[in-house]
Amino acid sequence: MAIVIIRQDDKIDVWKQALLSKAPNLKVFSYLEEHPKEEITMALIWKHPKGSLGKYPNLKCIASAGAGVDYIFEDQEAPQNVPITRVVDPFLASDMSEHVLAVILAEIKNFNAYKIQQVSREWNPKNYKRIKDVRVGIMGLGELGSLTALDLEKVGFSVQGWSKTKKNLKNVSTFSGKEGLKPFLNTSQILVCLLPLTPETEGILNKDLFLQLPKGAYVINVARGGHMVDNDLIEALDKNLLSGACLDVYHQEPLPKEHPFWRHPKIFMTPHYASVSDTTSVVPQILENYRRLQKGEGLLNQVDRKKRY
Ligand code: NAP
Ligand code: GLV
Repeated sequence: MAIVIIRQDDKIDVWKQALLSKAPNLKVFSYLEEHPKEEITMALIWKHPKGSLGKYPNLKCIASAGAGVDYIFEDQEAPQNVPITRVVDPFLASDMSEHVLAVILAEIKNFNAYKIQQVSREWNPKNYKRIKDVRVGIMGLGELGSLTALDLEKVGFSVQGWSKTKKNLKNVSTFSGKEGLKPFLNTSQILVCLLPLTPETEGILNKDLFLQLPKGAYVINVARGGHMVDNDLIEALDKNLLSGACLDVYHQEPLPKEHPFWRHPKIFMTPHYASVSDTTSVVPQILENYRRLQKGEGLLNQVDRKKRY
């Protein structure tokens, strides 16, 4: 039994060392080095090259090194019957919650607008909003969305959330399903997308949705670029339906230099770094699943292949 790490960024070695630091006798390989394909039972992956998972005849677990698994379902050549696991980690959730709080505070206190004014040395005080007067709506009340909702509520925001099945979160109003979407949107002054990307949620941040938000709402997409219909966002901003947007994720990453988001005055961008798997914190759950594989036990954080999250 052995693990292969497959990812196209420069983090293979960091993950390998993090695994070896906790399990020095572990057989772990980079997919770029010579390795015995038939011995591989677990692939620890992040945005792997399409087709690369098909090389392992004895693969028993595809472990996503992140929370999202949409990129695995997009690979038509990936094995269809191998269990998929994902990261569920307290730092991944709290980092996301902190990021969303920072974005919201910057927006309601006009920091984005002032940064633009500073460049042109413009002195133009703007009305700010108080936390207690702002209602935030979170789409997706899973590991990340529910912590974000609870944290924002503790800070003093009015918070509501929307999910597929009804949730019960302290002091958070919850909506669910198709019928719950309209009343949720109608009252969300700031909308945060923390949905998984699936065929049901692809393109959900579109013209129709923006029209259901209060006029001048602010949209934050920290989930996946595929949720957003880019042209609809630009149109909604240009028509002042929305006051602004903060984006961390894009259809193509890195975002091509010619994309209109880069220079849009109402769009604030971050480079898909709202919350990143912390190797030290995540490695124990990978090793625990590897142990469970050896023993034939059920895996932690397994993805439902039908739901695709
Ligand atoms: P999760 O625990 O699987 O939660 C997903 C939530 O979305 C659940 O509440 C689910 O409802 C809801 N949902 C799914 N499909 C829905 C639909 N069709 N209609 C309404 N609600 C729906 O996911 P998570 O761990 O919180 O992560 C969410 C996403 O964040 C990931 O998939 C990933 O794409 C993104 N992410 C981004 C970053 C970043 O740095 N930008 C970092 C980590 C993760 P039910 O509970 O009722 O099923
Ligand atoms: C990051 O985007 C993740 O899915 O963990």
